[in-house]
Amino acid sequence: MTKDSLARIDESPNDAVTNPELLRDAIEGLSGAEKTLPPKWLYDRQGCDLFERITTLPEYYPTRTEAAILETHAAALGASIPPGGALVELGSGASVKTRTLLDAAPHLSAYVPVDIAAGFLEETAADLRRRYPRLDVVPVAADFTGPVPLSPRLRDVPKVGFFPGSTIGNLEPEIARDLLAGARAWPNVEGFILGVDLVKDTDELVAAYDDAQGVTAAFIGNLLTRLNRETGADFAHDAFAYEASWNAVATRIDMRLVSRRDQVVTLPGARIGFAAGEAIHVSAARKYTVENLGALARSAGWKLDRVLTDREDRFAVARLAP
Ligand code: TRP
Repeated sequence: MTKDSLARIDESPNDAVTNPELLRDAIEGLSGAEKTLPPKWLYDRQGCDLFERITTLPEYYPTRTEAAILETHAAALGASIPPGGALVELGSGASVKTRTLLDAAPHLSAYVPVDIAAGFLEETAADLRRRYPRLDVVPVAADFTGPVPLSPRLRDVPKVGFFPGSTIGNLEPEIARDLLAGARAWPNVEGFILGVDLVKDTDELVAAYDDAQGVTAAFIGNLLTRLNRETGADFAHDAFAYEASWNAVATRIDMRLVSRRDQVVTLPGARIGFAAGEAIHVSAARKYTVENLGALARSAGWKLDRVLTDREDRFAVARLAP
C-alpha cells in the first residue's frame, strides 16, 4: 500500500458509518464508568434469526410455557377482547404466540404489531395477512419504549395491548412503568395482556440465558459484529466472553460481554480501553413475583384483573384492566 492510500484511510474512518444512531449510542454507553450497550440494537436481521432460535432451545422455557398458558386460556382471553377491537402488540417479532389470540378472537378488526426490526416486521405482516385475510394488519416500525405512533384511523377502535415474552423484564423499572402508563393513555384502551417470567431456581434461570449450544452467546456477540459492520468499530470477537449471572438484589439475569484481556477498541471518534475482566452490560432480564407485578401495574394506572400461570408457576400471563 502506498503512503498516500494509507493517509486516505486514516482521514476518512467515517465512511464506514452506516448507522450513526448506533455509533452515538455505543460511544455514550461505552464511555461511562460502567460500560453498557443498549439491547435494542441486538435485533438486526441476524439477531432476529438468532432470537427465534433461542425461543426453541430446550433450556429456554419461557416461550413454550407462555404459549401453553395462552392456549389453555385462549377462550377467556379472546372473550376479553372487545368485538371490532384492535390488538396492539409491542415487540411482536415473528408474532407466533399471537396467533393463539387471533384464532380465539375472530371478532377482532385489527392487529397492530409494533417492532423495531422493520424488515422482519413487514415479512411477518405479509404472512399474517395471508393467514387472516379479514384482519386489518397495521404494522408500526418503532421502538416501543417511546410513544407508539398509532394510526389515526384506529382512534375510536377499542384497544387491547399485548406484551408477551417477558420483554417488559428487559426494561429498566422506570421505563417499564412508563411503557405501561403510555399504553394506559392510548385512546379507548380497554385492557392489556402482559407476559412476565417468574422468580425461580437460579440454575434454571441462568441456563435459560446461557444455553449449551451457545445460541444466546452468539445472539449477544452478534452486537459486536453489527457494530463493526455498521459503525466501522474494530471489536475482535474472540476478545470477549459471554456471561449470564443472577443478580439476587435486583432479581434479574444480567447478560454481559467480558473482556478477555487488556485491550483498546477503536470506533470512529472514540478509543475505548478495556481492562481484562471488565464487562459490557448488554441486557437484563428481570423476574417477577405476583406481588411486585401487581405493584408495577398499579404504579402505571392499571389494576391486576387476572393472573394466569402454568402448573409449576414458572411464568405468568396477567390481564390488566384500566
Ligand atoms: N424477553 C426475553 C427474556 O427476557 C428476551 C431474551 C431472551 C433475551 N434471551 C435473551 C434478551 C438474551 C437478551 C439476551 O427472556
